[in-house]
Amino acid sequence: MSYNESLDGATRGNDRPTDRSRALYEQASRYIPGATQLVSRRPHIFAPGVAPTFFQHAKGPRLWDVDGQEYIDYGMSVSACILGYADSRVNAAVRAQIDDGVQSSLNHPLEIELAQRLCETIACAEMVRFAKGGGEACTVAVRIARGVTGRDKVLFCGYHGWHDWYLAANLNDEGSLAQHLLPGIEPLGVPRSLAGTVFPFPYGDVAALERLLARHAGEVACVIMEPMRSELPPPGYLQQVRQLTRRHDVVLIFDEVTTGFRHAVGGVQQLTGVVPDMAVFAKSLGNGYAMAAIVGVRAVMQPAAQMFISSTNWSELVGIRAALATLEEIRRRDVPGLLHEFGTQLAEGFERAAAELGIDARFVGHPATPRIEFRTPGDGRPSPELAALYFQEMARRGILINASPRHSAAHGASELETTHEASREALRVVRDALRAGDVERRLVVKATTPVFRRLVH
Ligand SMILES: Cc1ncc(COP(=O)(O)O)c(C=O)c1O
Repeated sequence: MSYNESLDGATRGNDRPTDRSRALYEQASRYIPGATQLVSRRPHIFAPGVAPTFFQHAKGPRLWDVDGQEYIDYGMSVSACILGYADSRVNAAVRAQIDDGVQSSLNHPLEIELAQRLCETIACAEMVRFAKGGGEACTVAVRIARGVTGRDKVLFCGYHGWHDWYLAANLNDEGSLAQHLLPGIEPLGVPRSLAGTVFPFPYGDVAALERLLARHAGEVACVIMEPMRSELPPPGYLQQVRQLTRRHDVVLIFDEVTTGFRHAVGGVQQLTGVVPDMAVFAKSLGNGYAMAAIVGVRAVMQPAAQMFISSTNWSELVGIRAALATLEEIRRRDVPGLLHEFGTQLAEGFERAAAELGIDARFVGHPATPRIEFRTPGDGRPSPELAALYFQEMARRGILINASPRHSAAHGASELETTHEASREALRVVRDALRAGDVERRLVVKATTPVFRRLVH
């Protein structure tokens, strides 16, 4: 049964129509394997059965779907659009570049300008390579680490994309990626000969990492990890990872594809003071234009000159121009400060309303990268059903939000007010459902496990 068939009848009576989204999804399923290019753009990302799947245009903190409905978005293209959608300054810079040409047979001085800007901004950055996507940039970083150390094995923690080196973790043990990406991923198409080259380690557990480094002593090229996701790292944890990787002479790579520029202009390394050997940035680097950077200390990066790492579109100038403009705006508007402030107010309004209604729900984690948790009354266990009902009711009121809200610098006072108002109404529905004991019945689609279940919160 297709996703749409499973919804038949379920969305009837929805105040906000999603018929065109549903029709397009059906059509996409015929022409595109899996229907979407990114797993996180499948219909379950917000409120399945109620939220739209296709958008027509987007501006600032809002998007307009193909059924003509307006939404305030707390996804921001899986956190890529840190300044807001279609940012005027970034767009003006990009437009000017388009008229000047975005590629030629030669290189362009802007490549050096962006590399220099990143070196001024990020503590570990002495040299820089470019790419377009986050997973691709992680793959470049791992290749450089393997090339410079002459070793093959990789230890990882978190999500690092779709490439062979990473998915090979499930060739050793089918559960390897369960806590870092998704349970049940079959590494179909990944060469079996890569088994035994990549191993996960649990976030926050120094002893586990130490054991892995000892077991594979002399064979590990790098430790690649999301330095944090939602919550701040446990005190001293990243410092100890840094010490361990130094002791074992292993390249330490921070994957800042999602954290990048949200907590501090210089990334998590600025926030925590822990400087890795390399770091990877993508997503918010181009504010939605495809751009990624692999940065690192000279001793690790310089040998990449001898490695075959090369692609036509890595010097394409729309992404480079967008990145220069985005970095400038992040600094000029103090985006980390804005995200902190807005996230704090969003959490306060939500928690106040939840407390008034006697609902056990809160925002946890850093205000720039929060998570929403609902707990079952009585046993206090996490309740995906209550959360799903809340997200569904928010979507009905024009707010796209899920368990990991990502706001942008364009979210301001009016979005806050509208969101708080919708939130009070949605929480009232949750309270009524709890009283009546009919949460399941009110859900258009049964609550599913999160798309990305990650170890790093
Ligand atoms: C930490 C991290 N690394 C890598 C990636 C992959 O980036 P992309 O989707 O641009 O390939 C993501 C995407 O969500 C990510 O969150």
